[in-house]
Amino acid sequence: MSSLPATHRALVLADKSQPLAVQSYVTPSPIHGSAVVEILSAGVVSYQREIYAGAATHAHYSLPTPLVTGMSGIGRIAALGPDATSLQPGQLVFVDCMIRARDDPATAFLLAIHDSGTPGSQKLARNVWRDGTFAEYARVPLENCIPLDEKRLCGELGYEVHDLMYMDYMLVPYGGLRDIGLQPGDAVVISPATGGYGGAAVLVAVAMGARVIAMGRNEAELVRLKKHVLSSSPSAGIETVKMTGDETADAESLKVFGTIDAAIDFTPPKGASSSHVRSIVRAIRKGGRISLMGLNDNPVVPWLVVSKEISLRGKLMYEREDMVYFTKMLEGGLFPSGKHLVDTKVFSLGDWKECLDAAARHTGIGKHVVFSPRSRVHDSSRV
Ligand SMILES: NC(=O)c1ccc[n+]([C@@H]2O[C@H](COP(=O)([O-])OP(=O)(O)OC[C@H]3O[C@@H](n4cnc5c(N)ncnc54)[C@H](OP(=O)(O)O)[C@@H]3O)[C@@H](O)[C@H]2O)c1
Repeated sequence: MSSLPATHRALVLADKSQPLAVQSYVTPSPIHGSAVVEILSAGVVSYQREIYAGAATHAHYSLPTPLVTGMSGIGRIAALGPDATSLQPGQLVFVDCMIRARDDPATAFLLAIHDSGTPGSQKLARNVWRDGTFAEYARVPLENCIPLDEKRLCGELGYEVHDLMYMDYMLVPYGGLRDIGLQPGDAVVISPATGGYGGAAVLVAVAMGARVIAMGRNEAELVRLKKHVLSSSPSAGIETVKMTGDETADAESLKVFGTIDAAIDFTPPKGASSSHVRSIVRAIRKGGRISLMGLNDNPVVPWLVVSKEISLRGKLMYEREDMVYFTKMLEGGLFPSGKHLVDTKVFSLGDWKECLDAAARHTGIGKHVVFSPRSRVHDSSRV
């Protein structure tokens, strides 16, 4: 426990008007209710560059500065608070970025990404859980450490830790799909399926035993998506539908595949005016369930929602229980094993600019970008 170094390297955002910088920071020590984790891999999302640069499109992502950047990660427990009862030093864990107030489940925020804007979440983001995982060490709540069976995952199933980090993408659609009660055998539409979270949703829905209809504008990416799924799950039920922008025609294209039970949508703000969610509402069966996870103002078709008794549910991220069940699925071998799961680009903290740029373009099913905070090798040439 006393082996923590006095200082460690961290990728720091001093202020949104300034570029990020790798700095030497005092290593956090474990306090009650926390673990200090040596971060081996930290996932990067496609729009993280815009958030930290204060881009107008992502201005609503408010966060306190200065802070250590980074969201979820995977690492080894380096030190534990005195109230830890089950986690062990050296254990491999997934570090979840969704922080919840212990005295109010309704108060939650995303570590070093978005303080959620309520007095309670802002207090926690500012005073307690400010620093993220783009660092050699991170202090996080005990309950945010989800144990990973290293022998099973890295040994028998052949995953490298950087590839396991793709969990941060796959967990999000899992949260939405569980929230609408997706059942094995259900037919589910995923839209748009060509992006980072939509692509991950395809893999998750297949692993949950559903039949998938993947919608998107980009035909080449839809072809790659289908190939990616079938290469490791040859018997998976997977169809694709190109979005044409014609609401009625796209609904008819969906209906070709029979009864549709559910849908999950990840439309980003720039796609808010797209008609594809209305096409899904037209095509889905009476009593169908739709999970809305894209952060946008896409209007639906109210009278059809009413007359078809469709359930529309918004969902932010996932619950802690979802992470536990998801980890069981991963350890159970329900996803493509080893290198078949994801093509991961790995960067050192010093290559932060190349890393954030790569994350913006290396998106879609089976693609991910991560930091390796312990690495000092400049490896951006791998992208
Ligand atoms: N609810 C949550 O907890 C949660 C968690 C994470 C992310 N999100 C949200 O999920 C959304 C997607 O994130 P992402 O990282 O997956 O984004 P991404 O990788 O950039 O993918 C964006 C997707 O949207 C499609 N798209 C873009 N403009 C479009 C338009 N005008 N019409 C139709 N489709 C369009 C893209 O299709 P093309 O390939 O054709 O460009 C692509 O499939 C964001 O709003 C993000 O904030 C929500």
